[in-house]
Amino acid sequence: MAVKHVCTALITVLILFSSKYCHAIDNITASQELSQGQTLISPGEIFELGFFSPKNSGNHKYVGMWFKGVSPQTVVWVANRERPLRVADARARLRIGSRGNLELVDGNQTSVWSTNVDVPANSSVATLSDNGNFVLKDGTSGEALWQSFDNPGDSVLPGSGIGFNAKTGEQYVMTSWKSESDPSVGDFTAGISTKFRPAQIFIWNGTTPHWRSGPWGRLKFVGMPEMDASYQKSAFSLVEDAEQGTAYLNFKAFNSSILSTVLLGSDGAFRYKMKDSVNDWYVNWLAPATPCDVYGACGPFGVCRAYESPICKCLQGFVPKSNEEWSKGNWKQGCVRQTELLCEKNTSSPASQGGKKDGFQKFVYMKIPDFHEYVYPAYDLDTCRTWCLVNCSCSAYALVNGIGCLTWSDGLVDVQQFAVGGEDLFLRLAPKELVGEHKNKSTTIIIIATVSVSSVLILSAILWIGLHRLRGNQKRTGTEKTRGKFDSSQTSADFIQILQSNQQHDPTELPIFDFNSILVATNNFSVENKLGQGGFGPVYKGKLKDGTEIAVKRLSSSSGQDMEEFKNEMLLISKLQHRNLVKLLGCCIEEDEKLLMYEFMPNKSLDNFVFDERRKAQLDWPTRFNIINGVARGLAYLHRDSCLRIIYRDLKVSNILLDENMNPKISDFGLARIFQGTIDLENTRRIVGTLGYMSPEYALRGIFSEKSDVFSFCVLTLEIVTGRKITSFNYDDQHQSLIAYVWHLWSERRALDMTDKVLEDSYSSSQAMRCIHVGLLCVQDHDTDRPTMPDVIFMLNKETDLPQPKQPFFTFERLTVYDLPQQSGSTCSMNEVTTSILHGR
Ligand SMILES: *[C@@H]1O[C@H](CO)[C@@H](O)[C@H](O)[C@H]1NC(C)=O
Ligand SMILES: *[C@@H]1O[C@H](CO)[C@@H](O)[C@H](O)[C@H]1NC(C)=O
Ligand SMILES: *[C@@H]1O[C@H](CO)[C@@H](O)[C@H](O)[C@H]1NC(C)=O
Ligand SMILES: *[C@@H]1O[C@H](CO)[C@@H](O)[C@H](O)[C@H]1NC(C)=O
Ligand SMILES: *[C@@H]1O[C@H](CO)[C@@H](O)[C@H](O)[C@H]1NC(C)=O
Ligand SMILES: *[C@@H]1O[C@H](CO)[C@@H](O)[C@H](O)[C@H]1NC(C)=O
Ligand SMILES: *[C@@H]1O[C@H](CO)[C@@H](O)[C@H](O)[C@H]1NC(C)=O
Repeated sequence: MAVKHVCTALITVLILFSSKYCHAIDNITASQELSQGQTLISPGEIFELGFFSPKNSGNHKYVGMWFKGVSPQTVVWVANRERPLRVADARARLRIGSRGNLELVDGNQTSVWSTNVDVPANSSVATLSDNGNFVLKDGTSGEALWQSFDNPGDSVLPGSGIGFNAKTGEQYVMTSWKSESDPSVGDFTAGISTKFRPAQIFIWNGTTPHWRSGPWGRLKFVGMPEMDASYQKSAFSLVEDAEQGTAYLNFKAFNSSILSTVLLGSDGAFRYKMKDSVNDWYVNWLAPATPCDVYGACGPFGVCRAYESPICKCLQGFVPKSNEEWSKGNWKQGCVRQTELLCEKNTSSPASQGGKKDGFQKFVYMKIPDFHEYVYPAYDLDTCRTWCLVNCSCSAYALVNGIGCLTWSDGLVDVQQFAVGGEDLFLRLAPKELVGEHKNKSTTIIIIATVSVSSVLILSAILWIGLHRLRGNQKRTGTEKTRGKFDSSQTSADFIQILQSNQQHDPTELPIFDFNSILVATNNFSVENKLGQGGFGPVYKGKLKDGTEIAVKRLSSSSGQDMEEFKNEMLLISKLQHRNLVKLLGCCIEEDEKLLMYEFMPNKSLDNFVFDERRKAQLDWPTRFNIINGVARGLAYLHRDSCLRIIYRDLKVSNILLDENMNPKISDFGLARIFQGTIDLENTRRIVGTLGYMSPEYALRGIFSEKSDVFSFCVLTLEIVTGRKITSFNYDDQHQSLIAYVWHLWSERRALDMTDKVLEDSYSSSQAMRCIHVGLLCVQDHDTDRPTMPDVIFMLNKETDLPQPKQPFFTFERLTVYDLPQQSGSTCSMNEVTTSILHGR
């Protein structure tokens, strides 16, 4: 009996205790205040409002709103940002004040925060809705008097946004916290600027622009190439009414079962954060993401390329304003025009200008500059060009989808060149500064070879000039002369002599083949012997005198790399030995020929099997699993274990060769390293990556790392398991891409439905499941969420619990525009000579 009494008492105490400290209320009214220990919870229990103290905030306490039940606590709105309460102040209250406003008072009944609006009657009630809007309503009419959605802090939630009303003077901006532990207003503000229409989103550091989105182009911001098709259905939309003087950016959820918020951090960066029921918060999108995204990084007339070093260059036809500052990396002063425009010259007769006119240089993949003047709804390039040409103060133009013709009249500020995406920009230049007139794209091609001058060797350099071939006219035959030429054969011959006398490489290290013997072995590079066209040139089958079969890769020789460097690279690469890498047998460098000899792979490449209806049956499950594991080991060796630490950059099924026992071997490894992007235009495009295999950070920003290879590896894995090509995915069902399809089945727990039908039931479901699971883990949007190659090998082979993948959003399988940015010559050394050659056809 006694025990029972004690229990009852204990339970009563517990109930009292919990009701005192965890009491939830539905709304705040004149008779229902919110005090310490109480919280206001939205009807669907999604948001919660109450007293809180940020971590490390010392003795400070605030009233704020957060996602209910989400740990760590994620605060999305704070009432008394500037006037914190003391933690010990247990008598603080959030209540409906005498004038009907919501009011936060401290223990002395002093108001520290109030909604401060005109309230017709004092019967107000404050409620918290499931979308996170905290609303003060008139108790009788139900009319909203004040709402947190109109007074955002550092976060916006789906259903709200930012904007302004010029007539009423209302501004809805986001303001960052001072620091993660201090909600008071920090340095950064985010809002809409309509100084130039269409509007742009800005982040300001104080009053200085820190980042801008580029103008709104009906479906997306043109300065944000990552806003691809996947964003167009969702996320953001900007509504501008010039007459009413309003602009509003609405933020919507991708998927209502995923929590999301856009946060302006105290570091000045936007983070689009998401959280599903399984995972922690993850950042889907971040801006600024690279130093190039920071407003005006390279100053006026400078262009920023995140994938080059240094990131800033002057635009074609411009030179640094101050060479001294520029070379020190202080780019803010920007660049100035090198040659005065003809239209600016004080000449009365056009004859004295030799009949020449200023022209426009085209740049592709650009983040268009700030201060655009919305000229004219011209929907064709010629009108836009003419418009700009006749006015000497027009320095550039662009025809932007969804907007029309934009022109610029002053300095071009905040210009960036992406690796892919963005807009075409046409820049006005004096005739002698133009690299190539783009009146007729198909007649003129520019090749820029950047060559480094080695300090060991004389004052001479070899310029490899690629005989560039036109798109649409690319038929190559084995006998056609496709190789490049020395621009001066005399110089090159001298050069080679010096090379040969100075280089005393041990011939046993890497056999050097004689060119004539290769001609014999490949039957003069005959068409019959051609095995295919690789990323770096055609490949021929050859048979040596002793009967050994070899594969000969004839490199497209327009690389600006000198012989010595090339040879050294080859020697290093020949030392890479792994059973999942194709073995390099030797090389041959003669005149303008560079040939590499590899072991011959009778079964050719993986795509001959996995995508071939007849042959795919030869790949049973154990073979496929062996291939996946083999490629993973080869790649891990290149990344981690080899002396060179190679990032492969262009992993895809056609680069995986199969030996007679169907063991996979990676081919062309190390060539990306040699060429460093300096090879001819077609191949540079290829080196940039293959659609579908490119990770988002690589495709958008040109940033590559081991993790971009991991991404490609997993695309390859999913292709091997499903037997479906990423690039020609059959869009029969509503899924846009292979990855979206895999994700869909995965989230419905039907992942195994996607295994190649020819496997029938012969596969190991646990192995296949692991392949798919790992496949999803390394196509994650963010490189930090992807495992490394050694992790991948471990995950594929050990029965351990794997982390849950998040839904991947970005895929680059359907980009159609895919040109090479101009002037992408790479920089090799401190001493460089840049030459431009016009090659007409
Ligand atoms: C406030 O909460 C009470 C109790 O749940 C409810 O009866 C009342 O309708 C609510 N008032 C408003 C305006 O939502
Ligand atoms: C509300 O207003 C009425 C009269 O307008 C007044 O009598 C009453 O005290 C007010 N209530 C509060 C809580 O201020
Ligand atoms: C209330 O006022 C007294 C005297 O002004 C002050 O010492 C005390 O700190 C105040 N309390 C709170 C909770 O602000
Ligand atoms: C913001 O501006 C201040 C003052 O100009 C500067 O010191 C600070 O570095 C800027 N912050 C960022 C992130 O650019
Ligand atoms: C939303 O996400 C949930 C959970 O991830 C998923 O089950 C559902 O299919 C998604 N809905 C849409 C429309 O994508
Ligand atoms: C242009 O030439 C005229 C006369 O030839 C002269 O008066 C004027 O100052 C010149 N302007 C400039 C900007 O040189
Ligand atoms: C030329 O462009 C400038 C700047 O946009 C503008 O102010 C000026 O009116 C234009 N002149 C003509 C003749 O259109």
